[in-house]
Amino acid sequence: MKLLEPTQIGEYRLKNHMVMAAMTRSRATEEGIIQDITVTYYAQRASAGLILSEATNISKDAIGSPFTPGLYSDRQVEAWKKVTQAVHEKGGVIFAQLWHTGRVGHSLDRSNKLPLAPSAVAIEGAQHFTSEGMKDYETPRAMNKEDIKQTILDYRQAAVHAMEAGFDGVELHSANGYLPQQFLSDSSNLRTDEYGGSIENRSRFILEVMHELTDAVGSEKVGIKISPLGTQNGIRVDDPVATYNYLISELNKMDLAFVEIARANPKSSLPSGYPRQDEIELFGKLSKNTVVANSGYDRESAEAELEKGTASLISFARLFLANPDLPQRFSQGAELNEPDRDTFYGGDEKGYTDYPFLKEGS
Ligand SMILES: Cc1cc2nc3c(=O)[nH]c(=O)nc-3n(C[C@H](O)[C@H](O)[C@H](O)COP(=O)(O)O)c2cc1C
Repeated sequence: MKLLEPTQIGEYRLKNHMVMAAMTRSRATEEGIIQDITVTYYAQRASAGLILSEATNISKDAIGSPFTPGLYSDRQVEAWKKVTQAVHEKGGVIFAQLWHTGRVGHSLDRSNKLPLAPSAVAIEGAQHFTSEGMKDYETPRAMNKEDIKQTILDYRQAAVHAMEAGFDGVELHSANGYLPQQFLSDSSNLRTDEYGGSIENRSRFILEVMHELTDAVGSEKVGIKISPLGTQNGIRVDDPVATYNYLISELNKMDLAFVEIARANPKSSLPSGYPRQDEIELFGKLSKNTVVANSGYDRESAEAELEKGTASLISFARLFLANPDLPQRFSQGAELNEPDRDTFYGGDEKGYTDYPFLKEGS
């Protein structure tokens, strides 16, 4: 099957068309340093064509949740080197996902500093997981021009650190309601300067970050994840089709490694004005960059998506979480392990490195 055939992105030969999607697992130390168990976890999954690391904080200001790793201190970079080396020894390719959570955080886990966001608009009707349990969202501090400039430089520095740590490239996390998508969204961006208002202005932050990243490490080593119809973390865009048409057309001017498109859950209710159309059809078709399709794929639907021809790669999150040898299982049409939600975030090897591999000869 196509899914299991080798392919190429930029200079990288991938063993197959299967990508392990980014997954936060909250098993780093309080200082955002990944531990040896994380080396095992990624090495176990190195048969993926491409691994996208869990979202990784670009700075202290970026932190949204406790025990998530970073790429801003030397010790964090040193620790990641063990992961990239282990993945490379098994012939894998791994990109670091760069994360700034913006308003999706809490001062409790940010040295008592309020989260930064495009505007002082809190997420309503939801709570945030903190080191002291679930808490209401706070009203973030609106970023001034200096904050924006510094944040873009923090992305650059994190990308440079990622390459020092041996990653093969970086992915900007511009999905799921985190800082880049907060700039794009009418519900979280009320700015009246050149970063707010029109579609061009609301896209400016993402495009400036992307230019900074491509300048720092080379465009063929930079990807981006978007969730055009996603409403996670209080996101609502007045005209998602026009907004993402513009964003994708601007990304087309950069020769990127890939654009990963996370589809909205077909069961979730969408705001009025949102099209009920498949995002790969709607937006993937516009992309001149390689499209990675994400969300809800299994063996058959992934293969069917590749056959359609718009997406060149398929990323799997929960299936890779629970099945370290997912390509082999797909190859044999074998049974899959079920992901255990209770061990998604935090804890030890349980639900992390102890999912069984297929037995020899099965
Ligand atoms: C435990 C868990 C953690 C996740 N963390 C991240 C993350 O750090 N960055 C990200 O872009 N998406 C994250 N996601 C979303 C996945 O990358 C993916 O978009 C989503 O699970 C849909 O893919 P799937 O249907 O193959 O699981 C996470 C998903 C899960 C289940």
